[in-house]
Amino acid sequence: MCPGTLAMIKIGKITVAGPLMLAPIAGFTDPPFRRIARRHGAGLVMTELISAEGIVRANRKTMDMLAFHDEERPLAIQIFGNSPAVISEAAAAVEELRPDMININMGCPVRRVCGSGSGAALLLDPKNIFDITAGMVKRVRIPVSAKIRIGWDHRSLNYIDTVKALQDGGVSLIIVHGRTRDQQYGGRADWDVIRKIAEFSSVPIVGNGDIRTHAGALERMGFSGCPAVMIGRGAVGNPWIFSGRKPSVQEIIDEIKKHLDLMIAYYGLRGIVLMRKHLVRYIHEFRGAREIRKRLVGSNSREEICEILDSIAR
Ligand SMILES: Cc1cc2nc3c(=O)[nH]c(=O)nc-3n(C[C@H](O)[C@H](O)[C@H](O)COP(=O)(O)O)c2cc1C
Repeated sequence: MCPGTLAMIKIGKITVAGPLMLAPIAGFTDPPFRRIARRHGAGLVMTELISAEGIVRANRKTMDMLAFHDEERPLAIQIFGNSPAVISEAAAAVEELRPDMININMGCPVRRVCGSGSGAALLLDPKNIFDITAGMVKRVRIPVSAKIRIGWDHRSLNYIDTVKALQDGGVSLIIVHGRTRDQQYGGRADWDVIRKIAEFSSVPIVGNGDIRTHAGALERMGFSGCPAVMIGRGAVGNPWIFSGRKPSVQEIIDEIKKHLDLMIAYYGLRGIVLMRKHLVRYIHEFRGAREIRKRLVGSNSREEICEILDSIAR
């Protein structure tokens, strides 16, 4: 499906291309994969978390991470940090690149990010959440959104304070991953809490966590009352999750080739190596997946990969 054929829908003040969105996954949701997700109907795509400090200092590697293609729109750029001044400065720089939305990460659990008071560590300080988002909203004209977890741990489920601070800060959308920071990616996302948040929030809530099928996405929307949901891991190797289409083996193979070509166009030959983590997900339900996987990850050229894929289809 091409993005142009999708009807745009309004969620609060935000216009998106559909209610099933692609969640940011560092190392996966790069420009090639975001384009693929949009072609399959993802209503919004988002960059992985990008350092506000790095943006303000115009660090070259950081600036490279901000690149996107027009075909990805609507697209949100996600930044992380903990200083309201640095974050609003970074937001202003990001706005110049003309994304459709800016998102502030309040959910990343990794020590490198939380250790400096960013990501999920922001959940410990609702006052700072207000200062950060109010500063961003004042500074840019495009919509500001936040992606949160439900708390730091189960003893401090402060999502009500967090959401109030975000509402007061003036954000246009809140994405809720239904886990605590302590849970990292284990246990289960708590959709009862997501539903509670969707009930009391005056800002539209996008639910996130553990959606693995298209039907599951619609079911979670119905259950929670969220006008949209975000899908991360369930979209890797399965962009059809956005449309609900069940692809044939040949369609999967054709899609892999298109994805591989986008990777090579974007990264050069390094794209072949970076494609491996996607490849294994695309083929994991094929008969003889273990053997195919071994052959594919040992391949170093487009021709070799395509030959292996074509031999599956025969
Ligand atoms: C390897 C990995 C990297 C992630 N990177 C980001 C990130 O950069 N920014 C962010 O907000 N969330 C990130 N997430 C969290 C996802 O966006 C999502 O909230 C989480 O995986 C739960 O949704 P899912 O079950 O649909 O994957 C990451 C998750 C994983 C597993």
